[in-house]
Amino acid sequence: METRLRMLVFTFILTASVLLASGRQGSQHRQEDVLFNENVNFKTKMSKRDVAADYNSNTALLPADTPDDSGPSPAEGDGSDLPTCLLCVCLTGSVYCEEVSPDMTSVPALPKETAYLYARYNKITKITARDFSDIVTLKRIDLTGNLISEIEDGAFLKLELLEELSLAENQLVRLPMLPPKLTSFNANHNRLRTKGVKATAFKKLTRLKSLFLAHNELEAVPIVPESVRILHLHNNNISTVSTDTFCKGNDTYYIRPNLNEIRMDGNPVILAQYPNSFTCLQSLPVGKYH
Ligand SMILES: *[C@@H]1O[C@H](CO)[C@@H](O)[C@H](O)[C@H]1NC(C)=O
Ligand SMILES: *[C@@H]1O[C@H](CO)[C@@H](O)[C@H](O)[C@H]1NC(C)=O
Repeated sequence: METRLRMLVFTFILTASVLLASGRQGSQHRQEDVLFNENVNFKTKMSKRDVAADYNSNTALLPADTPDDSGPSPAEGDGSDLPTCLLCVCLTGSVYCEEVSPDMTSVPALPKETAYLYARYNKITKITARDFSDIVTLKRIDLTGNLISEIEDGAFLKLELLEELSLAENQLVRLPMLPPKLTSFNANHNRLRTKGVKATAFKKLTRLKSLFLAHNELEAVPIVPESVRILHLHNNNISTVSTDTFCKGNDTYYIRPNLNEIRMDGNPVILAQYPNSFTCLQSLPVGKYH
């Protein structure tokens, strides 16, 4: 009778300590889940600093020199794509790297399958042909507010799914080749010259709807594809337009139904001097008329 009681007590203590231990482990797992769970709702407002802080407290327990390339491929969500997802916040298919500290001066290595990259307001200076070469899943890239002055040709060209690209608020004087499925391209607030923007730069972008080239140093209007609805060219150095700029000089019956917002204010051109240049449009460009 007494031994049975003792056994019972012993079993109780054992069970309790096992439960306690697994509970501790469980909470550690949960913490990792917060880091890696792809379904974390962004609305929980977990800031990137919290994520980094969390990780740092975890790394204290890890061996310092885990070799980088010994593990399985980076696609597995193992250690090798961690650095980016520490500086940044990685959610399902999205990477948010905004105002990263310490300064981010180049495009970070992206997890495979990234579809949306937000890398606004960092100190990126250059885009190389390799930066996005393995991430053909990208649909949107936002590099607004960096220091980009150079983009290697081909850097974006192979991104066949890319629909939205913003290079606004950078230091570009010329544009790279652009991929064919873009629907929105934003290069407002750069230093683009006509020399650096081929007349045909956008011609083959048959899905392009928004083209933002305001606040640059352009002296001519590039060829604008039929699909474009919104064209911003304000605050440039455009001094002339022709009957072929928006319309077709040799076809007075031609109409252009899509293009319904053109901004040309803040340019030297006086639009009233070119009355035959807008006959195909349903509304006149915004700009100087006298
Ligand atoms: C604007 O264009 C004119 C030539 O049309 C040129 O002389 C002038 O330097 C340009 N201004 C700027 C700020 O680029
Ligand atoms: C207008 O000119 C373009 C090329 O400049 C040409 O392809 C087209 O056939 C011409 N259209 C007419 C109606 O002459």
